[in-house]
Amino acid sequence: MNAIASRIHYSKPSITQLESGYATDAAANGWGEHCYDYIRRFEQQFRRYLGVEHAIATSSATGALHLGMAALDIGAGDEVILGDINWIATAAPIRHLGATPVLVDVREDSWCLDPIAVAAAITPRTKAIVATHVYGNLCDMDALGAIARRHGLHLVEDAAEAVGSTWNGSRAGSLGTFGAFSFHGTKTVTTGEGGMFVTRDAALHERVLTLSNHGRARGEQRQFWPERIGYKYKMSNVQAAIGCAQLERVEELVAAKRAIFFRYRDLLEGLPLAMNPEPAGSTNAFWMPTIVVDADVAFDRDALLAAFKADNIDGRVFFWPLSSLPPFEGHPRPRVSHSVSGRALNLPSYHDMTGADIERVASHVVAALGGRR
Ligand SMILES: Cc1ncc(COP(=O)(O)O)c(C=O)c1O
Repeated sequence: MNAIASRIHYSKPSITQLESGYATDAAANGWGEHCYDYIRRFEQQFRRYLGVEHAIATSSATGALHLGMAALDIGAGDEVILGDINWIATAAPIRHLGATPVLVDVREDSWCLDPIAVAAAITPRTKAIVATHVYGNLCDMDALGAIARRHGLHLVEDAAEAVGSTWNGSRAGSLGTFGAFSFHGTKTVTTGEGGMFVTRDAALHERVLTLSNHGRARGEQRQFWPERIGYKYKMSNVQAAIGCAQLERVEELVAAKRAIFFRYRDLLEGLPLAMNPEPAGSTNAFWMPTIVVDADVAFDRDALLAAFKADNIDGRVFFWPLSSLPPFEGHPRPRVSHSVSGRALNLPSYHDMTGADIERVASHVVAALGGRR
């Protein structure tokens, strides 16, 4: 009988003695007057890394998006435009606030918001555009910025998947009204669960700070005195300790992701498929190396996922178009998002993957597309 091949996870964090050491220190000593030390340090490191003035550590990117949109007074009667290829986390806060998510088509090459579709979807009710940098790919921030300015809209960056990506020299997440990051266990930089709200706008930062602390303003002298109903989306000191270590290693972590992507690209060259783009002037941190098989090629995605499974490899389907999911029943179905989604999947890419692991995954893709180079 054949031995079972070693498991290839689609994602898992890179944790060294640095992370364990900081987490242990936070668990042993990070209490009393030290209970915010690693949180402050993590926020400061992240501000510096991103080149923005303000950062607030949160329990998740979902929380950061919710806080930011609440602070922009997005609510009932408002419309918020976002790409149909997205995780539900981007749309959920819009619904929670009583506003309407408007799902528009994505570009065939980047799977990110199509600026032409965005411009066409603007109505007098539109309040914001959420630019999600899907799998680390960059939205066209120049075109979206111009549209937002022309119509007086907020441009929010969902950079949950884009730590390390840059656009014309600026880091993803630093270009809009505010940005949100995720440090979920599958992300390039992780704290287990966690997120970050970032902005250059001092007044918006102050509003989010108050909202994130159950409505208690920073300068309030009275104890337990909320001035409004807020939220509780905080990161713990122990999580932040892990984040501090990860941020010290961020260049190494992003470089590992990029190396994995380029190895896949070499191995899959010539096959009838597209992978994550890296347009001139941008850097893609390639959170999820992804293949989209050409539309005119017969491709059985389920068969490829079954072949992965049989070889102990984690497969991960591309995001379903949000408009195909039950919460959005009846929403118009954009053409490109519905075409791309079914012929695409993410390839495993954890930092410590070996060259042999990458070749093992790629061999199944090559076999699935059988010699069609
Ligand atoms: C595009 C996008 N936005 C938001 C989120 C939410 O992140 P979190 O799980 O930290 O709330 C994710 C999570 O994977 C995501 O992929």
